[in-house]
Amino acid sequence: MAKLTGAEVARHNTKDSCWVIVHGKAYDVTEFLPEHPGGAGIILKYAGKDATAEYEPIHPPDTLDKYLDKSKHLGEVDMSTVEKEEQVKDPSEIEREERIKRMPPLSQCYNLLDFEAVARQVMKKTAWAYYSSGADDEITMRENHNAFHKIWFRPRVLVDVEKVDFSTTMLGTKVAAPFYITATALGKLGHPEGEVVLTRAAYKHNVIQMIPTLASCSFDEIVDARQGDQVQWLQLYVNKDREITKRIVQHAEKRGCKALFITVDAPQLGRREKDMRVKFSDTGASVQQSTGGSAVDRSQGAARAISSFIDPSLSWKDIPWFRSITKMPILLKGVQCVEDVLRAIEAGVDGVVLSNHGGRQLDTAPSGIEILAEVMPILRERNWQDKLEIYIDGGIRRATDIIKALCLGAKGVGIGRPFLYAMSTYGLDGVDRAMQLLKDEMEMNMRLIGATSIKDLHPGLLDLRGLQSGHHAVVPGDTLSLNVYDPLQSPRFNEKAKL
Ligand SMILES: Cc1cc2nc3c(=O)[nH]c(=O)nc-3n(C[C@H](O)[C@H](O)[C@H](O)COP(=O)(O)O)c2cc1C
Repeated sequence: MAKLTGAEVARHNTKDSCWVIVHGKAYDVTEFLPEHPGGAGIILKYAGKDATAEYEPIHPPDTLDKYLDKSKHLGEVDMSTVEKEEQVKDPSEIEREERIKRMPPLSQCYNLLDFEAVARQVMKKTAWAYYSSGADDEITMRENHNAFHKIWFRPRVLVDVEKVDFSTTMLGTKVAAPFYITATALGKLGHPEGEVVLTRAAYKHNVIQMIPTLASCSFDEIVDARQGDQVQWLQLYVNKDREITKRIVQHAEKRGCKALFITVDAPQLGRREKDMRVKFSDTGASVQQSTGGSAVDRSQGAARAISSFIDPSLSWKDIPWFRSITKMPILLKGVQCVEDVLRAIEAGVDGVVLSNHGGRQLDTAPSGIEILAEVMPILRERNWQDKLEIYIDGGIRRATDIIKALCLGAKGVGIGRPFLYAMSTYGLDGVDRAMQLLKDEMEMNMRLIGATSIKDLHPGLLDLRGLQSGHHAVVPGDTLSLNVYDPLQSPRFNEKAKL
């Protein structure tokens, strides 16, 4: 079949006839316009043109096959005939490219916060805004990290710590260290290869990767990147259309995922104002599992644009249904108080993640570590501590943070942004180094508190009195985190407007 020419495609540049080019192929998206979860406006911006660069980071590669009828796939385009648009570079983008050339060598990153400091300087504005933002005033986001500074150690000395083993098990899987890569959406915003980079690092370090519903890579690509007996879990945003949800869950189980983490803290996505301010939706956003067409405000940044399909009616009543569709262990990700942990036990789930979604949902929700400190004594009182596995995530940047969580009774911890930043700056080598740094810190700090294995960690090694001090919005616990925190901005005045 003859290839289409750029001129032929360019003629279809209105809402009445809208063609776009993605990866050298043309698509007729006219009828799809009103259904696009990211809004029609962004597609129309590329009507008749090549949309690949904007499309790529936020759509898994199988999106067009899945959601656009085959009759609308118009075939290959002779790309030599497509007019290249003159790109006028924003001066801040030129400065960023300069900074990339001067990036510190990877060997200069000595801890997880160092990757964040570099990422802030070299990531694209939109990507940085999406990854780094938290909800509202970002109080919870900062508290997640600061809360660890309220807990101090009560180290034991003269313990033979020549040999230290910090391997453990998570839901029956033996892992090299008590942390896992938690689910974070849109990996290709940070790295052209996306989530598979994290898959490779997880394999190398023998830790588990939780695959996000909203990954940039397709689910199958992430599973295909698995090596050996590597274990992955699935994070699930529950779709209003339960048939879609069922299909996702059963497909994941068939492809070997070992646990289902249902996100329960996001009936609606929080307002992340940094993300909104860079007007991500102007540059495009969509998502793979969307049912499309719902009345969502599409001017509110990447996060909101991609989440219109999430079911706000999800409730405890749905848990038995999940049990009926899968044999995978079921865990609730985003539990935030003791009462709900007790309820989760009654509902018979296999575990919970005490988490506030990295401070991206309800602002002034408590940190995972603080909830854990409240939950565990109550479970122990009832002798319920072994009824489910408890994980936490949010703000974990140091092995001391991990050790504190394990002393309190967590089975393991999830880490989100630090691995994203390591991937966005130095790729696989960056994530590899970040994990190795954490492991080195684990070994050293286990020795220094006098523990040779995970089973030696117990609440007696902690001084929790600081937790009694209540909440303060800003308690900068360390200068490193203060350096990397990107303050919220006020609205910008229009510099071009004439007085
Ligand atoms: C950029 C980004 C995207 C995220 N996407 C998801 C998601 O799609 N589903 C989900 O359950 N949690 C998501 N989270 C929350 C993380 O799973 C986790 O709760 C949080 O990142 C932990 O905090 P940390 O980033 O301080 O480690 C996301 C977090 C970030 C930073």
